[in-house]
Formats: sequence, structure tokens, C-alpha cells
Amino acid sequence: MSAVTESRAWPAEGLARVPYWIYQDEDVYRREQEHIYRGDTWNFLGLEAELPEKGDFKTTFVGEMPVVVTRDEGGALNCFENRCAHRGALLCLKSRGNTKEITCIYHNWTYDLEGNLTGVAFRRGVRGQGGMPEDAKPESEAPRKLRVATFCGLMFATLSEATPPIEQYIGPEVAAKIRRVMKEPVRLLGGYTQVLQSNWKLYFENVKDTYHASLLHLFFSTFRLNRLEQKGGVVVGGEGGSHASFTMMKSDPSGDEYERAGMRSASGGYALEAPQMLESVDEIGDGVTLQILTVFPGFVLQQIMNSLAVRQVLPKGVRRTELVWTCFGYASDDARMTELRMKQANLVGPAGYISLEDGAATGFVQRGAAGASERSSFVEMGGRTVESNESRVTETSVRGLWQQYRRHMGL
Ligand code: FES
Ligand SMILES: [Fe+2]
Repeated sequence: MSAVTESRAWPAEGLARVPYWIYQDEDVYRREQEHIYRGDTWNFLGLEAELPEKGDFKTTFVGEMPVVVTRDEGGALNCFENRCAHRGALLCLKSRGNTKEITCIYHNWTYDLEGNLTGVAFRRGVRGQGGMPEDAKPESEAPRKLRVATFCGLMFATLSEATPPIEQYIGPEVAAKIRRVMKEPVRLLGGYTQVLQSNWKLYFENVKDTYHASLLHLFFSTFRLNRLEQKGGVVVGGEGGSHASFTMMKSDPSGDEYERAGMRSASGGYALEAPQMLESVDEIGDGVTLQILTVFPGFVLQQIMNSLAVRQVLPKGVRRTELVWTCFGYASDDARMTELRMKQANLVGPAGYISLEDGAATGFVQRGAAGASERSSFVEMGGRTVESNESRVTETSVRGLWQQYRRHMGL
């Protein structure tokens, strides 16, 4: 074994250590594209509600691969590579729209909404001159088609035939938590994108990390939205790749561990000038005020009080990640409920009262570990294994991520 491969072996401690080269190596990044995004995983594409009509399309990404998602004339969803069979140009330049066919702007080759090549400009040449040979088969380089699966109005795609059915992939416990939020038809409210100066896995770890929420996010703990003494738990499923964490509203008034420990996040007597910001409705009826859920490799579902959103985590290079947020409510919402959701949407997003700090924290790790590729992070909160837990003082779902990741990467 060469020195290079030796130093790139996973630490002997297993899931309780994560080597920093995993966030830094170009070679790892390239292999992730092949083994994870173009391998046997389900990649989140967006909400079905984004494509309500026949002919609707959107463009997005599966890893770095650009894709087009369409609803065809038969009403079926399709996903194919956004790459022209001819010389590889993007087929579709718009982020969304409605169309009957897709025409590549470079030399006008045309495609139907299933991604089939339907026309080659001047294929027979002009006045008997030029054109393609009789036996040319340009469809052989046609954009690859992905399998599409929907679950509770969420669209996923995979290039692999080996990817298990979507619900099995997510796992039954986490699938039930998706159903809980996606309980009825949704209405889109809007969205935003955010660029993170860190590797995609640092963000995915952050969302799965239940331990940081009340310590990093002062807004959470100061206004008692999420403190670790509140009742809650973590469910890990899908061979470690999926998780859902949840918090119940009422905190135990008998004690305040944060003040006792003199933490930065103790309240310090602050109060909101506009407390209506935090008024919420128990619309699902189970007293869960906060649920954060992930599905490997890039899906996040958020319920923070009445602020509902999906997030898509897109890798854009070793040290850069794009986060696409789509906020939604239910089609049955009245104007008051929509306003409440919009108000609470201020908690999240690039400048959200809560999530603003996540973007910073993942960048701090990327920068802090820049000279320590041979060292590892220490992930032993809640033990060294992966299982569901009633405590959120645990890194069990972070270890779950690495369990799934290592399986795909053969590490
Ligand atoms: S690259 Fe698309 S038609 Fe030439
Ligand atoms: Fe966070």
C-alpha cells in the first residue's frame, strides 16, 4: 500500500472519527459524483407542486450534473440530463417554464419532454451538400434519463437501476415523519438560494447535528424555542442516511441547565419587542414545534413552528455548496395562516434569525481544519454507534451519515 492511500484510510475508531481530508480532497469530490450522486442514491429534485401543468419544466442538478425535470403531455414526470446529444451544450437555459419541446440553442437540435432527440437541423444537408452520413446515430449520445420517484409530493431521481424503492430507501420511521408534514396538498410560497463556503458534507452534518442547535443558535435558546431540556428525540433510518429530530414546545420549568452552566446561550433577560413573531399554531396536533429531517445525500425538510420548507443541498466544488430553499404552506391555508408562515420564514434562510449561523459554522470548520487533513473530528456525543435516541445531546445522526457515506464510497 502506498503512503498516499495509507494516509487516506478511515480512522480505526470508525464512525466516531471523521478525517478532515474528506472535506478537502479533489479526488474524494470526484469520486462522490460518481459513487453517490450518479450512483444508487435518490436525489431530491423539488416539489411536485412546482410542475402542476402539462409542459411545465424546471432545471436543477443531481450532484454537479445539470438536469431537466418535466411534466409531459401524459402528465408523467421525467428527468434527464441537461446536455445536448450533439456537442454537450445545456439544452435548457431557463430555471423554469412551460413548453412543448426543447430546442438546443447552439445548432437547433430538438427534444421532446421525455428527453428524446426528435430533430437534427440540416441532417440531410442543403441542396445535396453536407449533412450527416446515412448511418449516423446521434441518439446514441442522447442525454441520459433518470428514474423518477415521488413520495408525498416530493420528487427524487436516480441514474441507477439498483437504487431501492424510495420509501424503503428513506426507511419507515423517517418516512412517517415526512408524511406528518406533507399531510395535504401544498402551495408554494417562494424561495431563496444561499452559497456556503464549505464542503457539502459539512452542511449535511450540521443539519443532522441535534447537539449544536441550542448552543450555536442564540435565538433558539434565548427565546426558548429549542433547549435540550425540552422533550424531543432523534430517529435515524435508511441505513443511517435519513434522520428526523423533533422538539416539543413546553420546557421543564424546574430547571435551566443553560443558566446553571453559565452558557453564552443563557437568556440574559432578553425579550422580543414583537412576541407575535413566535406565535404558532399546533396545526399537526401533536405538540411538535420543530422537526428537522434529512435524506441522504441532499434533502432537508423543515418544520420550524409553522414555517415549512424543503432544502436541496448542491455541491459546487470541494469548498462550495449551494443551498436551495423552497418555502411552502398548504393549499387549504387562509390568508392569516399564509401571513404567519411568511413571518416565521424570517427565522430561516441565508439571513434567518436561526439559520444564519449554520452557514458561518460550516465555513469555520472548513477554515479551521485547513492544515489538518490527517487529523479527525471527535464525534462521540451519545456514544459511538448509530441508533434512534430520546436525547438530542447526541451525534447519532451525524454518525449515521458517515455510515451511509462510507458504504457508497467503499471507505
Ligand atoms: S450542441 Fe446542441 S445542437 Fe449543437
Ligand atoms: Fe443549525
